[in-house]
Amino acid sequence: MNDDGPRNNVDVARWIAVEDAAALRREAYRRIVSCADRAIGERGEFRIVLSGGNTPRGVYRMLRGAETDWSRWQVYFGDERCLSIDDPERNSRMAGETWLDHIPIATGNVHVIPGELGARAAAQAYAALLRSVGNFDLVLLGLGEDGHTASLFPGHDYGDAVDAPETLAVLDAPKPPQQRVSLSAARLSRAREILFLVEGESKRDAVTRWRAGEYLPAAAIRAPSGIEVLIDSSSLPQAV
Ligand code: 6PG
Repeated sequence: MNDDGPRNNVDVARWIAVEDAAALRREAYRRIVSCADRAIGERGEFRIVLSGGNTPRGVYRMLRGAETDWSRWQVYFGDERCLSIDDPERNSRMAGETWLDHIPIATGNVHVIPGELGARAAAQAYAALLRSVGNFDLVLLGLGEDGHTASLFPGHDYGDAVDAPETLAVLDAPKPPQQRVSLSAARLSRAREILFLVEGESKRDAVTRWRAGEYLPAAAIRAPSGIEVLIDSSSLPQAV
């Protein structure tokens, strides 16, 4: 939010178009591993925020084979659904089944949002954890068909004010389940790199609205170095 109101991030967005879902997976993998190598080399640690949903499943599976020192990775989540800890619909379970359960990473390096506590208690607990965590190195984000990202939804609080809390409890999410926890737009923006992964024709309308300047949740993420949107051709507005 700035003094003349919130500003869509389209002016700082770099759109990287790729041919298809397989190309998106490959390029996302390359960027994640390169960012990890750089962070570990420069600061001895790589703080990554994972996105949920289905889009990242393929690149998470590819990351099982990454040549890296997993003990240097600190894994956080951009949002979580308030379901029981083993519910397959949890973002933490998706990340575990596709990737984290298949690599030698200590459980202490994977910081799950305790969604099973309910939105308010989980948001408070995760905010307390994040207060001792500096800027992220890489934040992965998806895009919903309505322009949502993480669990920041249109018509809801984005947490985009400079003094916004680290996390938001979402009680009436339009995408089930209704109860969720999301990092605020302000906290998601405190990152060296932001990488959106956008795939599929169903996202075309949201992309069109975003690029036209609408202040969607995805448009509220604004890191100092800008943002990158890795997008497959089917999500791009078609040339008329
Ligand atoms: C969630 C995700 C959400 C997701 C988008 C895109 O918990 O649902 O965090 O923000 O990234 O809805 O989802 P898909 O990748 O499944 O299209």
